[in-house]
Amino acid sequence: MSPKQKQHAGSSHASASAERREHLYKILVIGELGTGKTSIIKRYVHQFFSQHYRATIGVDFALKVLNWDSNTIIRLQLWDIAGQERFGNMTRVYYKEAVGAFIVFDVSRVATFDAVVKWKNDLDAKVQLPDGSAIPCILLANKCDQQKEGIVNSPAKMDEYCREKGFAGWFETSAKENINIEEAARSLVNKILLNDKLLQNNDTRDGDKFVIDHKIANGDSRDGANKACGC
Ligand code: GTP
Ligand code: MG
Repeated sequence: MSPKQKQHAGSSHASASAERREHLYKILVIGELGTGKTSIIKRYVHQFFSQHYRATIGVDFALKVLNWDSNTIIRLQLWDIAGQERFGNMTRVYYKEAVGAFIVFDVSRVATFDAVVKWKNDLDAKVQLPDGSAIPCILLANKCDQQKEGIVNSPAKMDEYCREKGFAGWFETSAKENINIEEAARSLVNKILLNDKLLQNNDTRDGDKFVIDHKIANGDSRDGANKACGC
């Protein structure tokens, strides 16, 4: 009979699968126009890069599945939000229930770095973890294959900037040359997992957390995964 098999496939009740964990995390990728958000996601998810620039309209989605360890699967639902959206009303809707974020700037255009703090403030004002703390956010200094301008030339100053502004870290990345994108994603996932454990240990919130995860997971399987990022 099949009931046993069915239980094994999806439920944490079956003993053989009791150790297996699956997480679905919503991650935002934000920052000024043309900084390389879509390119970073395409590189990360599809191992692909194009010089051709086509501005994202509104929001796009991609799903990255990580075999984190032998019994943990992590699905990252990446929300690729258009650079122009900070001036729109939609970010509050897009940011909802996100558990991590990347803010991207272009190392060759200082203006995109100057705007980082506005993105960070917008993010912190509009989304928090269930315990009210800020979601972990990593700053990506993208296009590091290009000539760098401004404080990104000084790693010490960047460290200080990130501490001051509440970033969980920063990486120089290049979607073009495939530099540091995997590393940045791993670092963000580590922070998210840590927060997840802390929240799980807080037993009064356990019920809420399950509901949130479950809701996102359902949304993903119906919409996000198949819409992908249009590439
Ligand atoms: P919006 O959707 O308008 O907000 O832009 P975006 O942040 O998604 O930028 P996108 O990924 O579309 O990239 C903009 C341009 O920068 C494209 O022409 C890309 O080819 C180029 N680009 C992206 N990443 C890199 C990089 O690491 N190095 C170089 N040299 N060019 C890059
Ligand atoms: Mg884009």
